Amino acid sequence: MSQFIVKGGGRLRGETAIQGAKNSVLPILAAALLTADQVELRGCPRLRDVDASVRILEGLGCTARWEGTNTLVVNARDMNAWSIPDRLCREMRSSAIFLGSILARCGQAELSYPGGCELGPRPIDLHLSGLRDLGAEIDDTGGVLHCKASHLCGREIVLSLPSVGATENLMLAACGASGVTTIANAAREPEIVDLQNFLIACGARVRGAGSSTVCIECPGPLHGCTYTVMPDRIVAATYLCAAASAGGEVFLRGAREEHLSTVTAVLREAGCSILADEAGVGCCCQNRLSAVRPVRTAPYPGFPTDAQAILMAALLKSQGATVFEENMFENRYRHVDELTRMGANIRVSGRAAVVSGVECLHGAPVRCTDLRGGAALCVAALAAEGETSVREISHIDRGYEDLAGDLQALGASVLRTGD
Ligand code: EPZ
Repeated sequence: MSQFIVKGGGRLRGETAIQGAKNSVLPILAAALLTADQVELRGCPRLRDVDASVRILEGLGCTARWEGTNTLVVNARDMNAWSIPDRLCREMRSSAIFLGSILARCGQAELSYPGGCELGPRPIDLHLSGLRDLGAEIDDTGGVLHCKASHLCGREIVLSLPSVGATENLMLAACGASGVTTIANAAREPEIVDLQNFLIACGARVRGAGSSTVCIECPGPLHGCTYTVMPDRIVAATYLCAAASAGGEVFLRGAREEHLSTVTAVLREAGCSILADEAGVGCCCQNRLSAVRPVRTAPYPGFPTDAQAILMAALLKSQGATVFEENMFENRYRHVDELTRMGANIRVSGRAAVVSGVECLHGAPVRCTDLRGGAALCVAALAAEGETSVREISHIDRGYEDLAGDLQALGASVLRTGD
């Protein structure tokens, strides 16, 4: 069983490049089904979730091959299936993102109902209602989604909440619809903009991504393209919080502050100095951090739920108390018990968690409960006296290409063992 061994107590100093964004490349891989031409994705991170997506594409009759470390070449010319087997659906919770593009390409789609995950139930009712609005007939009884759409017809769809996945799925389905599709109350995350830019590179007419209204029209078949995936804003936030946690000075090449301004604003409030230019984002933390005003997670451009655990870990030794409010997922405080093992003082009550800064943390054996909770354990371990063993790091491998290597480049003592 692989694990990280983290020796805490040292300050960070160094720089590293930020990988491509997991939450951008996954919908873009689904979008590759929309064209029978070759798609070359540059800056594609080597992640467990990307591997799972590749297996899904290959199961549908597509080809996918790595060229060099981070270029993935996908060709859906010979796509010959429209159903995703249950075992592949279970490998990656976000396999639902393939529904819209399979439907657009094949006129039918079948996949097992994606289950919940460590964060709690992950419903897709908004995805399904939007696809039905476009003309799809969906039988979602019995745990398998049977979808048919002899003809998808563009129209206005109003989302009851700005779901990232639903926005992406409907953008992809709309590429197979006649006329114009308008998605109102769309999610505004940067990954939506990246998907728009990919679809435009393939010849689609898409506009409005990043705002609450996205319009999509595909007058003809899409062609292939070469596309570079945006940098991962949550990975960048992780390393900024690592510097805040351990102290020191780091530079993250390729990070874009405009994608994580709510995170950098909180880190500045806590006492870090953050500098950003066209090359990346730097963070310098010399003194003990201060507690900050309440941190409430919200859809973009609000504070990202994916950075909640990571920021919490950075504030464990801050002066004062910080209130967190997790509004996006029901079960996103699973890392708290593990942080408590390291001496953290955190009280959870429903959606709220109060972090009272302590003078010191101590290394301990801890285990990852989920992707971002696992990263938070590593951020906290950097500030703990002594050694921390972080087990079940397969969770971390879903979203971080090389967390240990990146943190080592920033001057941390993190060793991966047991592979
Ligand atoms: C995406 O998940 C990200 N995953 C998540 O990142 C991220 O936390 C989330 O957006 C919010 O930013 C990927 O992009 C692969 P949502 P997604 O649909 O699309 C409810 C990570 O760590 N909802 O915006 O599933 C849902 O229950 C992961 O990288 C419905 O009720 O998020 C949740 O409470 C974790 N019905 C809220 O909306 C629906 O049909 C936000 O979900 C869809 C969603």
